[in-house]
Amino acid sequence: MKIPFTKYAIKGYNARLEQQFDECRVASEAMQRRSHARFHIINALLQNTQQKRYLEIGVRNLEDNFNRINADFKVCVDPGYEAAINHATFPMTSDEFFDQLHNDQLDIEHNRFDVIFLDGLHLADQLYRDIQNALQVVADTGFVVLHDCNPPTLHHARENFREQSPAAGFWNGTCWKAYQRIRTETDKRCFVVDVDWGVGVIVNHDEDPAYRLPATVNPFYEFHVLDANRREILNLVEPMDVSELRENL
Ligand SMILES: C[S@@+](CC[C@H](N)C(=O)[O-])C[C@H]1O[C@@H](n2cnc3c(N)ncnc32)[C@H](O)[C@@H]1O
Repeated sequence: MKIPFTKYAIKGYNARLEQQFDECRVASEAMQRRSHARFHIINALLQNTQQKRYLEIGVRNLEDNFNRINADFKVCVDPGYEAAINHATFPMTSDEFFDQLHNDQLDIEHNRFDVIFLDGLHLADQLYRDIQNALQVVADTGFVVLHDCNPPTLHHARENFREQSPAAGFWNGTCWKAYQRIRTETDKRCFVVDVDWGVGVIVNHDEDPAYRLPATVNPFYEFHVLDANRREILNLVEPMDVSELRENL
C-alpha cells in the first residue's frame, strides 16, 4: 500500500507554520503592550546629565519619540528611507553623519552629547559601528541607548526585513548581537530594560571589569543560546519606574 507521505508532510508543515504565526503574534502583542517606553527611559537618563544634549540616530516620525524628549539641545539623523517627508535635522546615514561630525564638517552647535539613542539600521555590523562612533562623542557622564535589543523570537531577529516571516512587519533585526559584542569587549556597565523590544543602555561613566560578559557565553552568536540565557547575556532588568531607574545608575 502506498503511504501518502507528501500529503501528511505538507499537513505537518502547515500546522507548524500556523503555530509559528501564532507564537509570533502573541509575542508581538505582548511587546506592543509594553512599547513606547523608550522616551521615558531616555528622559530619565537625560535628567541624570548636566547639559542635556540629545542625539537620535534613525528617527522616522518625530512624534513617536524625538518630540517627546526633554533636552536643552537635540538633533536627529535619518536618510529618510521610511518617511514620506524626512524631518531629520541631518538627512543622511549615520556613517555620513559621524564622519562629518568627526571631521568638523557639520553646522552644529555641539559636537558632544549626553544621551545618544541609536535606532537606525537594525543590523549588527551597522549598530556595532554606530556604537563605536557614539562612544567617541558621548559625554564622560553620558549614556548610549539602543532600541530592539530583546527580540522575542528568531523571526523577529531575522536579518532580512523583507523576508516573508511569521513575525510579519515586526523586525528587531540583529541589534542584540552588537549589544552582546560590546558587553564582551568593554568594561562599561550595560543593561537592557525589558520593555519596548528591549531598551539597551550603555553607561559611559561607570567602568568595572566585573561588568564584562565572558565571550564564551555565546561565542557563535546563536539565537537559541540568547533565548535560553537572556538575563545573563543581556543583563535584562525588569521595567522600573523612572525614579527607581535613576537610583540604579
Ligand atoms: C525604527 S525607525 C526609527 C524610530 C524612532 N527612533 C522612534 O523611536 O520612533 C528606523 C529609522 O532608521 C532609518 N535608517 C535606516 N538606515 C539608516 C542609516 N544607515 N543611518 C541612519 N538611519 C537609518 C530609517 O530611515 C528609519 O526612519
